[in-house]
This record gives sequence, C-alpha cells and structure tokens, in this order.
Amino acid sequence: MKKIAFTLLSIAALAVSAQEIRLTPQNIDEVLSALTLEEKVNLIVGCHDAYTSKSETMIGHQERIVPDAAGTTTAVERLGVPPTVFTDGPAGVRISEWREGADRNFYATGFPIATALASSWDLDLVYETTAAMGNETLEYGCDVLLAPGTNIHRHPLCGRNFEYFSEDPILSGKMSAAYINGVQSQGVGTSIKHFVANNQETMRFVNDSRVDMRTLRELYLKPFEIALRESNPWTVMSSYDKLNGEYTQCSEWLLTKVLREEWGYDGIVVTDWTGTRNTIAQIKAGNDHLQPGTDDQVTHLMEGVQKGWITMDYIDRAARRVLEYIVKTPRYKGYQYSDNPDLTAHAALVRRVGSECMVLLKNDGDVLPLRETKNVALFGVTSYDMLAGGTGSGDVHKPYISQLSDALEAQGLTLNADIKWMYVNYKTYAQCARTARFGHGGDWQQPVLPEAAIDRTIIERAAKSSDVAIYTLGRQAGEGSDRKVEDDFNLTAQERQIIADICDAFHQQGKPVIVIMNTPSVVETASWKTQPDAILLAWEPGQEVGNSVADVLTGKVCPSGKLPCTFPNSCMDHLSSRNFPLFGGKERMPVQEWDPRSTMEYTNYEEGLLVGYRYFTTAQKAVSYPFGYGLSYTTFAYSGAKIKKVGDGFEVSVTIKNTGKVAGKEVAQLYANGVLKAFAKTRELKPGESETLTMNVPNYFLARYDVEREMWVTDKGEYTITLNSDVLTTQATLTYKVAKELTYTNDYNYTK
Ligand code: BGC
Repeated sequence: MKKIAFTLLSIAALAVSAQEIRLTPQNIDEVLSALTLEEKVNLIVGCHDAYTSKSETMIGHQERIVPDAAGTTTAVERLGVPPTVFTDGPAGVRISEWREGADRNFYATGFPIATALASSWDLDLVYETTAAMGNETLEYGCDVLLAPGTNIHRHPLCGRNFEYFSEDPILSGKMSAAYINGVQSQGVGTSIKHFVANNQETMRFVNDSRVDMRTLRELYLKPFEIALRESNPWTVMSSYDKLNGEYTQCSEWLLTKVLREEWGYDGIVVTDWTGTRNTIAQIKAGNDHLQPGTDDQVTHLMEGVQKGWITMDYIDRAARRVLEYIVKTPRYKGYQYSDNPDLTAHAALVRRVGSECMVLLKNDGDVLPLRETKNVALFGVTSYDMLAGGTGSGDVHKPYISQLSDALEAQGLTLNADIKWMYVNYKTYAQCARTARFGHGGDWQQPVLPEAAIDRTIIERAAKSSDVAIYTLGRQAGEGSDRKVEDDFNLTAQERQIIADICDAFHQQGKPVIVIMNTPSVVETASWKTQPDAILLAWEPGQEVGNSVADVLTGKVCPSGKLPCTFPNSCMDHLSSRNFPLFGGKERMPVQEWDPRSTMEYTNYEEGLLVGYRYFTTAQKAVSYPFGYGLSYTTFAYSGAKIKKVGDGFEVSVTIKNTGKVAGKEVAQLYANGVLKAFAKTRELKPGESETLTMNVPNYFLARYDVEREMWVTDKGEYTITLNSDVLTTQATLTYKVAKELTYTNDYNYTK
C-alpha cells in the first residue's frame, strides 16, 4: 500500500515538474531532456504551413503568425517554447501588406538594395539604416531578418547581385558586419546568406560551384569570415548550390569545420528554403534547422534515429542550438510588438540614405547640380514609374514609390507637358512598368519601351522649350533568374536611339542631357556614355527613389557614392564570362531545351581570384568605370599620408581637404599591391575644410591562402600601399615592410 502510494506520488511529482518546466536561458538542458524525440525533430524541421506539406497532425503545427513571412519554427507549448518567425530581407521586411479581416495595410519600408548601400562606403550609415530595418522586423512581430546577402558579385549577370554588396570580399565583409550589427541592435536576429559560392541563379538548386581552395578561402569565404569575426549573426543560411560536388548543406567541412571550429560560430545554421535533400546528411553536416520544413524531413529524422542512421547526439545538438536561439528572440521574451513601426521616420531616413548611395559617373561642364534650370524634359518610363528595389524574396511590400516626375515638380521645376503626357498616358508604358514593378523573379521581363512612339519632332520641340533633358534608363532583376547580355546588360536598340536623339536635339540647342540609371546592377555604359553630359547611377535606392534622385540633381545632396563593382567596357570582358550562363538562365531549366547550356549543372570558377577589378587591373584591360569610382560636386586633395606599425599590422593616416566650392564627402580606399584592404569616408567637409582619416590593416589581411600548408601566409617583403580615390587613381603611395614570413592558422581571429 505504502509502495503504491509512493509510486503514485512520484508519478504525480513527475507530472507536476514536467508541467512546470518552462524554457529559460538557464534550463536548456532540462528542457532538452523533457522533450520527446518528435518534439525535438519538430524544432529542427521548420513549421511549413504555407504549402501545408507539414501535416496538421504534427505536434506544434500552427498557423502562419505573420502573413507571408518566410517561415516559422514550431512551438512546444507545454514547455514554454514559442514559435519564432523568419522574414526576408535584405532591402527591408518582406511581409504581406494584406491581412484577412484587417481594415488597414501592413506596409514595410522599402530600403536601398545592398549594392546601393555598399556604394555609400559608409559603415555608420549602413548601421543606422539596418537598425531601422531591425526595428521594423521587431515591430512586425518577426524574430529574424533573412539578410544580409554576403555573396560576391562574381559576374554582373547574376540575377541576385542587387541583394549582395560587392565584387570585393573586404567591402562585402565589412558591409555585412555593419548590417548585422545594425539589425541586431534592435534585439532581433539576422541570417547571413547564402553560405557559400551561390553566385548565379541558373539551376540554382543543383548547380555545382567548382572553386579551388585558395579562391574559395580568399574570395568567397572571406566576406563571411570577416562578418562573423566582426559581428555575431544569430543564424547563418546554408545555400542551395553544391560546392565542389557536394551540397553546401551536406558539407560537414563547411558547416562545422570552417564555420564553427575555425571561426568559432555558435549560432544556428538554417538551410535555405530547400525542400528535401538528404535530411540526415544535412543535420550531421551541421544544419540545425531545416526551412521551410516538410513532413518527409520529420519522418527521415524520426526513422533515422529508430534505425540507427543518426544518433541522438546529432538530434540533441541541433535541438539544443535551436533552443539557445529561441531564448534570444523577442517572441520568447514576450515583446509586445506594435504592428506599427514609424514608417514616416524610416521614409525620411531612406530618402537621405538613398541619395548617399548614388554614384555620379559623369558631369561634364559641371551641368549638375541643376542651377538655373526651370523647365525639364523628362524622358524614360522609369522617370514616371521608378524602380525602388529588385524582385523575388528581396522585394518589399512598400507603401509607395516616389517618382522623379513628382519630386522634380515638388522642388519647383516644371516638366515639359507633352513629354510628361506621353509617358503618363501611353497605355503600354504603364502596363510595362507595372510588369516591371510587380513581376516576380524569373517572370520579370524588361519592358517594351514606348520610346519608339516618340519621334524626333517631339524631342526637337521639347529641346527648344526646355532647359535640360533628363532620361531615366530602367532595369530590373530578381531571384530565380540571371540576367542576359542583349537587351539587358546591353541597351536595347530603342534605348540607344532615344539617348542619341535626345542628345542630338538638346545639344543642337546648347542644352545639356542627363541620364539617370535606375538599375539593380551593372549595365553597359561604354558605347553611349560619351553622348550625355552627366550620368547619375541611382541604383534601386528604396521607396524614396524619386526624391533621393531629385535631391542629388538639385544639389541638396552632394553625391559621394563610389562603385562597389566594376563597370566593364563589355560584359564579355569579365574573365568569369567564360564560365557564366549568359543567356538569362532560370533557376530550373528544361532538361531537353535546344540550348545545350540549359543542361549545365556546374560552373567552373576557372578565373580563380581574377574576379572584378582584380582581373581588369592584372590584365591591364580598360574599363568603362573602375571599381571605387565616383565623382562629386566638389574636389578633394590628399596630403600627409603616413604609415606606422601598430600591433600585428599597420595604421595609415591621410588628410583630405575639400578643395572645391560646395560641401561634400570623400571615400578614401587603401590598397596593398592593388587589392583593397581598408577604406574610410570623411564627414561632410565644407569648402576648405580637412579631415584626417586613419585606417588599420592587420597583417593577416595581407595573407594569401597556402593550400599545401593549409594556413594563411603573409609573405615577407615590401608591400606597396596606395591611397586611392578609385582602384586606378592613386593619391598617395607608401611602403610597408614585412621582415619575415608570418603564418596564421585557419582559426586565427584578427579581431582579438
Ligand atoms: C532564397 C532566400 C530567402 C528564402 C526565404 C530562398 O529561395 O534563396 O534568400 O531568404 O527563400 O524566402
């Protein structure tokens, strides 16, 4: 009797304590032991409700919490484990603007694309911008922003380059760290992606990136390494592609050895939104969470344990890390989000940041800023229907897009009524532009430009009555499809024609022509850049695009952006063009398509390190606009460059003086033997004002990867250190001596 009573009592005690266990940062082990296998597996496999492939009967299944957010983790309510929400990234929070039964919209701010942010070369500005994105993530009830995109611009036709920063690993790495620190300053997480060598969209779910070890380490892993040393993203997203024959998601070398053992990463690894691969291999390799999650994946892991294909250690390792992630989230902490971020304040920020990201490519005769101008002939579909960001998961449901036409009028300029009428009313225009704006990923088509309808007489008439012509050249790109050379990288015949016609007509009247490039990535400029007087590369700078462009045109903002990628004379000039699908390939290609390239399932990174400016400067091949290039409305002089040893590295200082007539900012770039190692931007300097910039470079940043010795080696010898205003324009030269060879193991942490 006593025994029975005791047993009953202990069962009751167990039941009570199981009920009482609630997840806290301190009791993760206890919660882990209280979880059933099924619950653990459900924490590892995402709660995939969007396509209802994770069945309703699964424990913890719940409705999507934030409509159209990319994914959720599964709750275990009995143990106080809440669900958490992942949302895209990277140009703001991608959630649905509609909600059933709601009498309002849920718009999120459209921030500048990553390539535009990188063009600012301003880490503080990026931090400030991404802190606002983090705030929207938080206030819309999301826990992780799926960004930044840290892949290298290996080739200008990669459809998602706009989501990535640069062709250079240092610029990409530093930008990524600033981005992560900014977002996470708001108490939400990030997901640095796509790890790694995910540099094209064609066949993206299966394509094998074949990269040699030195190139992989120095170019493709490096920006992730820098970001992970200088920030601590809550999650890392393993990519879709294969790396040298193995899916990155199944590579233990990548996800455990490099990421965790060498770089000390202790957050969670989340798969890109794959669907099913070899689930067991994914978990063994070091993924902790599979998004979006499928029934099959749950079955694989449950059966895998039962049949001994995977041990409980792996399951516990992943589940523990997911719990460690969950306790950091606002949802776990019970944050009461408002669903009401300050969109007005963020719009003002975007207007300012957008203008800071723009790159002035040409300004002959100082036609910009517009001074005496009153009447503008505003040409181009995208002047009236501007592009704020790219398509696909990197798109944001923004409240509006400010138009250049409206912005110029708001700043007191008069638009030529005939030209405006034509663009606004020509039906095809509007339809095309709408396709451009709302098309998704690979379905997007360059609009059939209505320019054909504008004949010479109309342009000539406008040239007589207007003070200046502005033509906006629009392009779009997005997830799921690469760009192509003809009619995309290169201008269409109609675009060439209208630029030529406008330039002829206006120049005959002695009036200037300005081209605005409203584009997500690089477009050919060499063949037409001689014609207009000025070219402003606006990128896709977010929802305030029209106002930001107008602010630069009218001189409210002095342009200070510089190119984070080379503008070549021809697309084919890139060495990587030999091994890149140049035909606008899609993420899934029909196997038997007539084009033999459509069956291509691998990409040889044969160019090795010679990507972007590294190739053009090595081969001494002329470019249209070099890496790091950008003009200002003022001029700068560099003086007093000095170098000194500091710790295991060196420090360079240089004084920059504004020698022109208006206030402006300058970006100084430090190259060692022609390769970017550091950069710094001045504050806004008034005419005559100076600032001394200092830049620190660890000796480790001079190292090459020695494949045989499996370590980083900084060779002894003299290094030429140059301070440049772009990769080809040196303002000061210094030398730095390394007395003896320096070696660094793969786990070397330069920030310590
Ligand atoms: C993209 C990721 C994105 C994810 C969730 C994937 O297709 O590659 O960048 O974060 O979808 O939307």
